[in-house]
Amino acid sequence: MKFKNDKVGRNDPCPCGSGKKYKKCCLKNKDMAQDTLKDAYYKRYKIRLKHGKDIEGIRTAGRLVVKTLDMAEKNIQPGITTDDINTLIHDYTIEHHAIPAPLNYKGFPKSMCASVNEVICHGIPGDRVLRDGDIINIDVTSILDGYYADANKTFFVGTPGPDAIKIVRVARESLRAGLSMIKPGNHIGDIGYAIQQYAENQGCSVVREFVGHGLGFEFHEPPQVPHFGQRGEGVALVPGMVFTIEPMINLGQYKLIVLEDQWTAITADGSLSAQFEQTLHVTEDGYESLTPYDLS
Ligand code: MF3
Ligand code: CO
Ligand code: CO
Repeated sequence: MKFKNDKVGRNDPCPCGSGKKYKKCCLKNKDMAQDTLKDAYYKRYKIRLKHGKDIEGIRTAGRLVVKTLDMAEKNIQPGITTDDINTLIHDYTIEHHAIPAPLNYKGFPKSMCASVNEVICHGIPGDRVLRDGDIINIDVTSILDGYYADANKTFFVGTPGPDAIKIVRVARESLRAGLSMIKPGNHIGDIGYAIQQYAENQGCSVVREFVGHGLGFEFHEPPQVPHFGQRGEGVALVPGMVFTIEPMINLGQYKLIVLEDQWTAITADGSLSAQFEQTLHVTEDGYESLTPYDLS
């Protein structure tokens, strides 16, 4: 069958039957409703809703971030250092006309975060050598054409033991639990509630000090997105919101220590920690991942 575009044109009669042009009637009201919400969310919460070309820009940055993670994964093997991975990611980002957002961000000295085993997040790439059985989280944020996208994944180095397999599975499923709550009308708190319920039921714990965040025009924008909390708490989700969900899940207790370098966060009890992060866009009927990768 031949494709027929039955969308109403801007200059067609409005489908509501008013006799006015569509652009002067319901199309305009839709835009007006969108603008009203945009103003209200900025005034009330300092949240900048994104539409049209802005979403497209973040989506394009997001595709590059996912390709960068794929490239990194292919290079992970025992014997490589976290600084080697940093160099690969830095060069790949620049070659693709993007900027690595972490570099010099609030004094961060490298182009990505590499968090091994008991490191929860913000591990600074250096001369640590990856060993068989390690887990490593690679967190990439790229700025492309002025737009930020942020994603991370935890990978196995060589052959994982049972603890590594468990914490990586629970962290991945925690992100999925969070994603399942994203739709207009739900609240930020529903996301954290779903994650906490799932992770704690698996006997793991949810890190409190670091949370997901709005982004797109900047690295970190409002709102904050905790990975724990109560149903119905916090801002109501509306189309155009763009934020990360990035649960950090520990095999032991959630308490953490930040090292002397002021960045590296490790589990206080030395237990393994894993994380998965994506950049999400709230749509009319649910969500779209702007950094899509398989979580199954
Ligand atoms: N990418 C991290 C996040 O998910 C932030 C890293 S900040 C840095 O929010 F300075 F350490 F890069
Ligand atoms: Co983030
Ligand atoms: Co990140």
